Amino acid sequence: MNFWGLKTFCLVTGASRGIGKTIAIEFSKHVAPGSLFVLIARTVEGLEGTKETILAGTEGKGINVHTAVMDLLHPSAEEYANLISSALEGVQETATSFKHALLVHNAGNLGNAKRRVIEMDNFTEIQNYWTVNITSMIMLTSEFFKVFNETDPSILQRSVVQITSLAGVDPFKCWGYYSAGKACRDMIMKTLAMEESRIQVISWAPGPVETDMFHEACRETGDQSVTEIMNETLTSGKVLSPLTSVTKLITVLENKQFVKGEHVDYFDV
Ligand SMILES: NC(=O)c1ccc[n+]([C@@H]2O[C@H](COP(=O)([O-])OP(=O)(O)OC[C@H]3O[C@@H](n4cnc5c(N)ncnc54)[C@H](OP(=O)(O)O)[C@@H]3O)[C@@H](O)[C@H]2O)c1
Repeated sequence: MNFWGLKTFCLVTGASRGIGKTIAIEFSKHVAPGSLFVLIARTVEGLEGTKETILAGTEGKGINVHTAVMDLLHPSAEEYANLISSALEGVQETATSFKHALLVHNAGNLGNAKRRVIEMDNFTEIQNYWTVNITSMIMLTSEFFKVFNETDPSILQRSVVQITSLAGVDPFKCWGYYSAGKACRDMIMKTLAMEESRIQVISWAPGPVETDMFHEACRETGDQSVTEIMNETLTSGKVLSPLTSVTKLITVLENKQFVKGEHVDYFDV
């Protein structure tokens, strides 16, 4: 089964900027007419900018875009279900009119990168990190596949692309929240892949990519040795553009260069 070229319902979290914005724009060039992109973030201007770029880049191809301002700090099963149904209603379609249901868990944050593990003493900060980066993605996955469920044979493909990080495998000082969050997301994806034989799952580590988060990591990391690595990556030109990283992801998906449910790093393929 081809990954690309199908009439696709694609939901991307964190599509207002950075890697998520580029994923939404580039993925929209590889799907069939009538596809629908649902974009989530907190910033309306960013979402509208992504929408405009998608529509300009796919003019005449009948690609639809639905944007939703949502804060993943307050996940709600009802809101996620309503979002999917209102996006479908907006184009007067049902889930079964799509051949591919594709969920992209991209949104995330670095967390407080000044704290060493023994300094993590703030309950709200800890809870908020897990809520945005883990709880919300678990709940969204559940609501998404309630709608795009396997009882209908007309949906040919169901997929999840989770954006992870090398930090989910290797620890970095002061990135305890970030590394633990990515490791947890990776394991949720492995479990999903094991449980659901008909859902394609990949955890994609995009490499070092020049985005707001990358600059925040250079500025805000509490550990000097990690800050030096980040800054050296930036100044030596080793940092990737979002387009370079996402273009490789598109090829990896196209050529199925991944073991279902596994963590795949930009530099390993
Ligand atoms: N950049 C890198 O080098 C790198 C490396 C490895 C992995 N990653 C991963 O790639 C993904 C994207 O990162 P990025 O570098 O593109 O980061 P970014 O530039 O900071 O973008 C983060 C995106 O997530 C959204 N977001 C953040 N918090 C949110 C919340 N509470 N509710 C809803 N949306 C929220 C942001 O939108 P709003 O602010 O509009 O809400 C934005 O669209 C992340 O999962 C990150 O961990 C990045």
